[in-house]
Amino acid sequence: MAANTDGKVDDTAYKAEVAQAFDRAATHYDRMGVEFFTPMGRRLVERAAPRSGDRVLDVGCGRGAALFPAASMAGPTGSVLGIDIAPAMVEEARREAERLGAAQVELRVMDGERPQLPPRSFDLVLGSYSLIFLPDAPTALARYARLLADGGRIAFTSPVFTDDTFPFLPPVFTELIPRSLLANLPAEWQPEALQRRFNSWLGQATDLRRTMEKAGFTDVEVVDEPVELVAVSGEAWVDWSHTQGMRLLWTHLPEQESARLRERLITALDAMRDGDGPLTISTPVRYVIATVRR
Ligand SMILES: C[S@@+](CC[C@H](N)C(=O)[O-])C[C@H]1O[C@@H](n2cnc3c(N)ncnc32)[C@H](O)[C@@H]1O
Repeated sequence: MAANTDGKVDDTAYKAEVAQAFDRAATHYDRMGVEFFTPMGRRLVERAAPRSGDRVLDVGCGRGAALFPAASMAGPTGSVLGIDIAPAMVEEARREAERLGAAQVELRVMDGERPQLPPRSFDLVLGSYSLIFLPDAPTALARYARLLADGGRIAFTSPVFTDDTFPFLPPVFTELIPRSLLANLPAEWQPEALQRRFNSWLGQATDLRRTMEKAGFTDVEVVDEPVELVAVSGEAWVDWSHTQGMRLLWTHLPEQESARLRERLITALDAMRDGDGPLTISTPVRYVIATVRR
């Protein structure tokens, strides 16, 4: 991984790594006996409530967890454009649009940080668990404000970041994943370093509101609400964790440590199941909605 002289990961190299990680994950993304992104995307759209005929942009659309619920609410007179930096994600979403016969859906490979799209051409910008991957999200937010028509809205989700866990994971993992394991990550990929560099604006609701207002939004609503992550087994959760943020940790762990952590997680998570029933992990999610008024 390319790093600048100040030890930071170069933005272009970082984006290439993110795109590659999601390209590799695309086939199994949220389809491995774990449901998390799908219910979160659905809930985000429920909260944002696009109107019939709305023009919607979904930034970092992935396989369409928010995009398809938005398409059904915008209806045949609306339009939904999904953009993502990972071509394999876009391909999966395109296949799903064809399967559903969703003619109002368009998909393009595009860097969501710098969308090349006409000003004031959308009524709603969505971003479910995607803005956190942008190296400069506050600047991107100002670009989204310009893409929105007057009275247009943005709605996105993010993790509720905490200091005591691997930042993408709910508190239940605090004990299960010892912080000492994080020492295996290169300094620039340490959760705190990434959080400080990319997501510090999201940590506190007051910073978040200030950032949104500076970007041109008003009426900023911040609500934290858990998503019930459901996994068919501990093993399903561990396999799934290789397809999202925790992949970073897995790829940097020595083989033995990785095998030990896998065993420990599977045993502890299976113990949380009700017999053969699924495992449910209440995962805090932050929902942000704001409006553009000129
Ligand atoms: C955690 S996934 C969420 C996907 C989808 N919104 C969902 O809820 O299932 C994050 C997505 O953001 C995309 N992404 C990351 N950086 C991006 C960028 N700079 N531009 C566009 N998409 C990006 C990834 O490729 C991935 O599909």
